[in-house]
Amino acid sequence: MDIKIESESELSETESPGNEHLCMSRRSFLLAGGGAVVLSTLPGMASAVKLVAKEYPRVKIASLKDLKTDQPVDFSYPPNNPMSTFFIVKLGEEAGMGVGRKKDIVAFSNLCSHMGGPLNGTYKAEHKAMGPCPLHLTTFDLTRHGMVISGHATESLPQAQLEISHGNIYAVGVMGLIYGQHDNLA
Ligand code: FES
Repeated sequence: MDIKIESESELSETESPGNEHLCMSRRSFLLAGGGAVVLSTLPGMASAVKLVAKEYPRVKIASLKDLKTDQPVDFSYPPNNPMSTFFIVKLGEEAGMGVGRKKDIVAFSNLCSHMGGPLNGTYKAEHKAMGPCPLHLTTFDLTRHGMVISGHATESLPQAQLEISHGNIYAVGVMGLIYGQHDNLA
């Protein structure tokens, strides 16, 4: 159930006590499901982040070598729901639940948490944000678990939990309710 790490550099970063809050193991992520509250210590973030997690099938979504900074790549997830698309992006700066050497690779739903507006193509590299949503202008902070920066949405953008193995990136679960679903069911 634990994250599989290939390179020594990734291992040392992942297991460094000072970085424990930035790279949850899959086990701790799942233990946080069901409404547990976890405090993030990312710079400037004082509020609690409510984690409602669901484990989905483990799916390869990208290779580390193919990801380029600030260039999001879309993928379908969960695999049995073609209406649900996510994007993975290498932010170039540390982010909550980020993976990789810099903990800067994250993935989120393309469906706005407010009313499902399509967020595809709205990535803002200068702010590491997604949006504004074309329907009601919500913008989400990708460095802080998809928290709302501004707009009508009240829920964070659902974030995919990622794992790295043999240079590949896998999605293994989702934190938050994907728009259009009644529950976090696979
Ligand atoms: S659907 Fe995105 S802000 Fe309303």
